[in-house]
Amino acid sequence: MKLLFEKSVPGRSSAFLPDCDVPIVSLSAELTREKDALLPELSENDISRHYSGLERRAYGVNNGFYPLGSCTMKYNPKINEKTASLGGFMDIHPLQPVSTVQGSLEALLLTERILCEITGMDAMTLQPAAGAHGEFTGMLLIKKYHEQRGEGKKRTKVIVPDSAHGTNPATAAMCGMTVVSIPSGGDGCVDLEKLRGAVGEDTAGLMLTNPNTLGIFDKNILEITKIVHDAGGLCYYDGANLNAIMGIVRPGDMGFDCVHLNLHKTFSTPHGGGGPGAGAVGCKADLAPYLPEPGICFRDGQFSFEADCRQSIGKVKAFCGNFLVCVRALTYLLTLGKEGIPEAAKHAVLSANYLKTRLSEKYTMANGGICMHEFVMTLEHEAKEKNVTAMDIAKSLLDQGIHPPTMYFPLIVHEALMAEPTETEGKELLDEAADIFLKVYDEAMENPEKARACPVAAAIRRPDEVEAARNPRLCWNPGEE
Ligand SMILES: Cc1ncc(COP(=O)(O)O)c(C=O)c1O
Repeated sequence: MKLLFEKSVPGRSSAFLPDCDVPIVSLSAELTREKDALLPELSENDISRHYSGLERRAYGVNNGFYPLGSCTMKYNPKINEKTASLGGFMDIHPLQPVSTVQGSLEALLLTERILCEITGMDAMTLQPAAGAHGEFTGMLLIKKYHEQRGEGKKRTKVIVPDSAHGTNPATAAMCGMTVVSIPSGGDGCVDLEKLRGAVGEDTAGLMLTNPNTLGIFDKNILEITKIVHDAGGLCYYDGANLNAIMGIVRPGDMGFDCVHLNLHKTFSTPHGGGGPGAGAVGCKADLAPYLPEPGICFRDGQFSFEADCRQSIGKVKAFCGNFLVCVRALTYLLTLGKEGIPEAAKHAVLSANYLKTRLSEKYTMANGGICMHEFVMTLEHEAKEKNVTAMDIAKSLLDQGIHPPTMYFPLIVHEALMAEPTETEGKELLDEAADIFLKVYDEAMENPEKARACPVAAAIRRPDEVEAARNPRLCWNPGEE
């Protein structure tokens, strides 16, 4: 498909502007470009068809099943979008006087309070823009806690199990900490002996993804937090996948001091595509004074910003973060309510276990037993025996109208395919999807060469993904192919 620039015709336009009726002022040289900006020249029709064409080639939850593990691509009720587009929320400016945005501040404070209740934390910030950004914020809180106690120089190590999301060790390193990786046991849970051996006077904390990237809820969670606390460290909970446990168990009750949530996974804003997200961070009272400034408060009958932020780690994002993502989350929380939130979690887990059981007929699971909201298959054996890889299965699924699961993640599983059906799919669709997965498997085993040639019906077949990731070319340059 040609780019807008390639479709451009000199002199074509879609705007009909009236003659200028104000004096024309020449700007000084430092305010003007040397050359005119290069813009495509097209009619409105050209543009409209271009974007409709792109939309037809894209695949989203409105097109069909999208079991992208670790990314939670679920259907989100349209009411969340509708609320976020209300003028009272959308047409405000962060620098408006607080007296004119009382409703918006109330919405933010209410979101914080409900999320505190769900996580078992005492305080919350909605400022971080993504999960990884939330982790960064949380680790800065932990770092500051040790600094304030005069132990900042000593406690520099962060323990990260190898089943953690990749952002966990990256975050700890970005915060200037030394990452201590510990292997999981055969059951996919944290190896307690390894953890005991890793903690010490230099431990700043532990970062735990739970459920972990194998889709397993760690059965020793209380013991884990105790071991870390006994050594003087703090416990950080990667709660990006709270959709598996929300309303049922709380990180705060498991002994965690700090948690982040991906509002753009669990609480309604679509995940992926680089759009705005929100990585809300909750913490226990000990860490609350260090939260990003300014907090929101309700005092003397008015919602306003906290005046005293002397101990804060500072700002991590302008103003109140991605405000409309929080409005979507609040709508989702209030629509589902106390009964609906745990129901959604139970459905996410039930869907995953149903699909896992059906696919176990052919696919090898990385771990047996009950999973949480997602599960991991391994094509290691098939790759060795038949030269059919996880990539071949994923690409074959594309031809069958299904978005593939996440590939080659988590890294601790070879030839991994990680599937998350989500709570919003019904049994009929799960059965249909399971039939397709099983059919694709059989066909690939019968005819590996054909599987290696897939997809044949997709708009893009097998791009060089490593090249695309290492050398992304996101801008069109004139004269370039
Ligand atoms: C467990 C876990 N932690 C952290 C993240 C990072 O979140 P983000 O992509 O918003 O930075 C993700 C991403 O989905 C995740 O699944």
